[in-house]
Amino acid sequence: MIGVSLSRWTMAYFAAAIVALLLSEALMVAGYGFPALPVQAPQTLVLVHLVAIGWLSLLLCGALFQFVPVLVARSLYSNTLPFPALLFLLAGLGALLIGFLQLAGTIDFAPSLLPYGAILLAIGFALVLYNLGRTLWQARPLPLQARFVAVALVCLAATVAFGAIFSFAFGTTLHSDALLAIAGQGLPLHVSAGLGGWLTFAAIGVSYRLLAMFMLAPELNGRRPQAVFRLGSAALAVAILGGLASLLCKAPVFPALLIGGALGAVALALYLADAVHLYRARKRRIIELNSRMAALALVSLAASVVLTIVLLALGRLTQQVGALVFLVAFGWLGGLGLAKLYKIVAFLTWLECYGPVLGKMATPRVQDLVVEARARRWFVVYYLAVWSATVCLLASQDLAFRLAAAAMTVATLAVAVQLVRTRLLSNVAAASRLPGSVGRPHLLICMPGPNR
Ligand code: HEM
Repeated sequence: MIGVSLSRWTMAYFAAAIVALLLSEALMVAGYGFPALPVQAPQTLVLVHLVAIGWLSLLLCGALFQFVPVLVARSLYSNTLPFPALLFLLAGLGALLIGFLQLAGTIDFAPSLLPYGAILLAIGFALVLYNLGRTLWQARPLPLQARFVAVALVCLAATVAFGAIFSFAFGTTLHSDALLAIAGQGLPLHVSAGLGGWLTFAAIGVSYRLLAMFMLAPELNGRRPQAVFRLGSAALAVAILGGLASLLCKAPVFPALLIGGALGAVALALYLADAVHLYRARKRRIIELNSRMAALALVSLAASVVLTIVLLALGRLTQQVGALVFLVAFGWLGGLGLAKLYKIVAFLTWLECYGPVLGKMATPRVQDLVVEARARRWFVVYYLAVWSATVCLLASQDLAFRLAAAAMTVATLAVAVQLVRTRLLSNVAAASRLPGSVGRPHLLICMPGPNR
């Protein structure tokens, strides 16, 4: 990582993502949307997109601006574009949520803001895709982990395209039969592309590198990770393209989803086996908090796969899909996100502040920027709360779910406080905090170099 330039706006993406996470948790504590209301209710759509776009997508975009250059050993195409992209994404998310509130009847004015939200989000994500796409394009042939990210970016484009069609169907009058068919039956494809293709596939690609890097384990490039990539890509192609072809031919999409799901489950099982191998082959015997907490995210992923198979076998998948999506979003993706944020914020802040003076004066170590003992218990509370909340959803215990959501909120808030303390160097002993020309870092912007 040393020698790679810092992504200027990554911290701003992280901050916006954490705010969205806290807002969505507060809504769940208040009993807003699912499970008090059905999964399809507009209030649930507010919650789902605050999590999917506000928390998880902003987090991932911010992380990719920093890590795609690391994966391909090249600079990011533009360090400027992420800022306007963030503004478009935030404005688009705001308009999308207002559009859902109009559907819910909470806000009463015409016209619907859904199409405007879709356009703003499409512009924001297009800027992200252009920037990361140009960075990857210049680095062909791509290393394996970067290929995961490339497929994830294609899936992001598909997710946004489906979402935009739905938004236009809600907010305007569509005349095309094909678009109406997609708006009518395309929801599982949008969800598969978003949660499976964009968020999960990118998380897998980046985690191969981060798990190895932070635990000093040998990089995996052999046959099993190749199989994960091929099977996973095939699963996404069958589910999304096969599903799309089916619905355009007026056939049911379920068979494509089932075959894609089966391929995906095998890919995920192989990925989990690789992750276990990385933990076993690590050179760092005592691992840091981020690696220990990432293991709990991997447990959540394994539990999600098992839960899907069990629900399918019991014929209860449709009724319990809310609990499953919850576990994927908060246990696997959100858990991994929080765990890795804990290290990444420390690492980037350390590189920004002490990288330029390294070797010229005594500097703190990366681990001096964090107090793991303080954060550990809150991470544990977070995971226990997520797992309890999933059980409450499966058992239709709405009040208990809200209590578990409250525990998640408190734990997230406590981890967020730790992240801010790390960013502001508050955990570093005052005597060694700002030696020589080192200045205090800005909370939201990374500005490496002596002119900070
Ligand atoms: C970025 C990742 C995204 C993920 C993971 C995601 C996930 C989801 C999920 C799980 C649902 C079903 C929710 C429910 O039924 O309660 C949904 C529905 C929907 N999404 Fe997204 N979404 C994403 C992005 C977007 C974007 C960018 C847009 C708009 C441009 C959008 C617009 C919609 C609309 C309008 C619906 C309602 C569709 C209907 O009920 O017919 N989504 N999304």
